Amino acid sequence: MEPGFSRTEIVSLVVRLTLVSAVTFWSIKWLMNQVDPTNKSKKKARKTAEEQLRRIASNKQSVQIDKLNDYEMMIAAHLVNPADIKVTWEDIAGLESLIQELRETVILPIQRKDLFLDSLLTTPPKGVLLHGPPGCGKTLIAKATAREAGTYFINLDLSILTDKWYGESQKLAAAVFTLAVKLQPCIIFIDEIDSFLRARNSTDHEATAMMKAQFMSLWDGLNSDANCTVIIMGATNRPQDLDRAILRRMPATFHVPMPNAAQRMSILSLILANEPTSDDLDIEAVAKSTDGFSGSDLRELCRNAAVYRVRDFVRQEINSSLNRRQRLDSGEEYHDALRPITMDDLKFSYSKMRESKIHCGALPVQSRIDLD
Ligand SMILES: Nc1ncnc2c1ncn2[C@@H]1O[C@H](COP(=O)(O)OP(=O)(O)O)[C@@H](O)[C@H]1O
Ligand SMILES: [Mg+2]
Repeated sequence: MEPGFSRTEIVSLVVRLTLVSAVTFWSIKWLMNQVDPTNKSKKKARKTAEEQLRRIASNKQSVQIDKLNDYEMMIAAHLVNPADIKVTWEDIAGLESLIQELRETVILPIQRKDLFLDSLLTTPPKGVLLHGPPGCGKTLIAKATAREAGTYFINLDLSILTDKWYGESQKLAAAVFTLAVKLQPCIIFIDEIDSFLRARNSTDHEATAMMKAQFMSLWDGLNSDANCTVIIMGATNRPQDLDRAILRRMPATFHVPMPNAAQRMSILSLILANEPTSDDLDIEAVAKSTDGFSGSDLRELCRNAAVYRVRDFVRQEINSSLNRRQRLDSGEEYHDALRPITMDDLKFSYSKMRESKIHCGALPVQSRIDLD
């Protein structure tokens, strides 16, 4: 008998070895997946993202979902479907010229790319910054932009990048950009961008500093490709806290100011348009006396006023000898018995809000004037 192994023996040995290593490989892979704490969230993200992409893509060129990696899928789970957004330009009062400019700067280049391609000078800005005091409509504007542009819109909540363990976060940050490029045209919106990309300082955690640097270099990657239609849109109340390098990357800046009297008038009219109001309502007088009130303050002012009439009604009902049962029996509708919002409601709401604003230092004490 010849020493050593026969041909068949060698083949069978190789086959067995391959089999064993394959089984080992898959078992270890399976085990690693089970042990990986992000596995569950990855699976969930993939599912959400697939559903979301399918819904959004129905009227666009479809994106090949299987071509997205796990990290891109995690980001895709934060895609906003323009059809789900309720805010339209009509919901924003007093900012008509700003909106017009924004539409021409951001939306037109996306929708009419052909008009902008023949010159390097007309390429749309890769970064747009909305800044101004809180409650004046920045987030509203971003939502309406997403709705009108009809493009893919990633609402980037930065906590999803920083929550992950170190290492994962860098892969996720990279995925934001690679996904956006695959989906383009695409807008990446970062609300309160100062919370993440504020000026670098020595107290920054090393990982945070690295993330910022990485984010900026990825961003530059976008800028170097003139044909790529990915726009980063940021909003902040504190532009002075932003890193200068970031400001440089957002050449299109829009100041969303505290509303002046005429703008407050438009905002109040819009808020009260579909409310039951009495004839004595003098919106102009309210607009004139609400210097220092933001859009969201005005909304709160009207909301409180609207609550008073309900509260009054309930009090009356308790005091009244005629109980609700009898009223309903007589065919009177419950809500018909509510009175409309009156000027007194607005005045009362106004004085309370003013007091609390003065108390918090948001308004100077000498501004303690009454609405008359
Ligand atoms: N110009 C405006 N027109 C209508 N409503 C406004 C306006 N500005 C603010 N509001 C109201 O205030 C709320 C908060 O606005 P938001 O866009 O979130 O402010 P910001 O993002 O600037 O802090 C809005 O939901 C809206 O009800
Ligand atoms: Mg906001």
